[in-house]
Amino acid sequence: MIKEKFERDLEGKKVSVFTLKNRQGTTLNITNYGCRIVSLFVLNKEGSAIDIVVGFDSLDGYLNATEVYHGATIGRYANRIALGKFSISGKDYQLAINNSPNHLHGGSEGFHTKVWIVEAYTAQTITLSYISADGEEGYPGKLETTVEYELSDDNEVKIRYKAVTDQTTILNLTNHAYFNLNGQGSGTILNHMLQINADLFTTVDENLIPTGSAPVVDSPFDFRQPKRIGERIRDNHEQLKFGNGYDHNYILPGSSELLPLIARVEADKTGIIMEVLTDQPGVQFYTGNFMSGENLIKGHVPDHFRSAFCLETQHFPDAPNHPGFPSTILEPGEVFDSTTVYRFI
Ligand code: BGC
Repeated sequence: MIKEKFERDLEGKKVSVFTLKNRQGTTLNITNYGCRIVSLFVLNKEGSAIDIVVGFDSLDGYLNATEVYHGATIGRYANRIALGKFSISGKDYQLAINNSPNHLHGGSEGFHTKVWIVEAYTAQTITLSYISADGEEGYPGKLETTVEYELSDDNEVKIRYKAVTDQTTILNLTNHAYFNLNGQGSGTILNHMLQINADLFTTVDENLIPTGSAPVVDSPFDFRQPKRIGERIRDNHEQLKFGNGYDHNYILPGSSELLPLIARVEADKTGIIMEVLTDQPGVQFYTGNFMSGENLIKGHVPDHFRSAFCLETQHFPDAPNHPGFPSTILEPGEVFDSTTVYRFI
């Protein structure tokens, strides 16, 4: 990691990279450009450090990429909002259409494009903040967001999101790390073993907008027992055709635990295991179906088709237009406070 390749002023704000290390030899690099994970080095069984997050060697890599969400904090609304429209108390709002015909991941100038302020930085934690003005990207209310990354000695990357607003608004925050537990740039993720503890997923139309929900049982979407990601990805199934693979929100069952374990992934080559814990009601499982080899990631390797997966903990896509989905409304006076953990074994 050459820190100098990230150090620059963008719109008068200083961009840099910040390194966290724990006692297990894990290293997490965060940049305040997009409040994103640049790299995460985890030791394999032989004790070699493997970078398991897809990304770029320089700030320019992120600025010039055709895929703009690598490792970033996504806001104000992660995932899609149909036609970019929603209403609150009878008032209609129109968001940017940046994934025709829908709004995706906060719009073209979403949180992933912002230079965040570093509020605090220690050997194992960093806290970043961003204030989004009322009306930014079409969203109502001035929204103040902080994200804390902690790399614990238990080998957990803990991400804590907090946000407050001064007007009723909608909110859905996630992190968009692209993982390859064999090491970024090492080929497809189709032989990783995946388990997702969910009985249901939200079905989508051809524009990936939810149409309802369906049980995973007897379908390629059933990951309740560990299964190779690639085992049924080519099945002749309408939902897989719409996503060009997996690009779906799993409905998490809810739990009495504060932070339930919702997914587990094991790499076939390195044996690295990642567990995901979250208090959010959903997780988007995405298999890099739009990766096309046109971006050169770290080490100047092309970002080949399905060479990474994402497990984006979140509220459901398009929830503001589905009264039956858990609410994404944030009211003035409330504090949105949510935690997701990526734990490595
Ligand atoms: C979405 C994909 C999208 C990708 C962009 C994922 O969260 O579900 O449809 O192409 O983000 O990086």
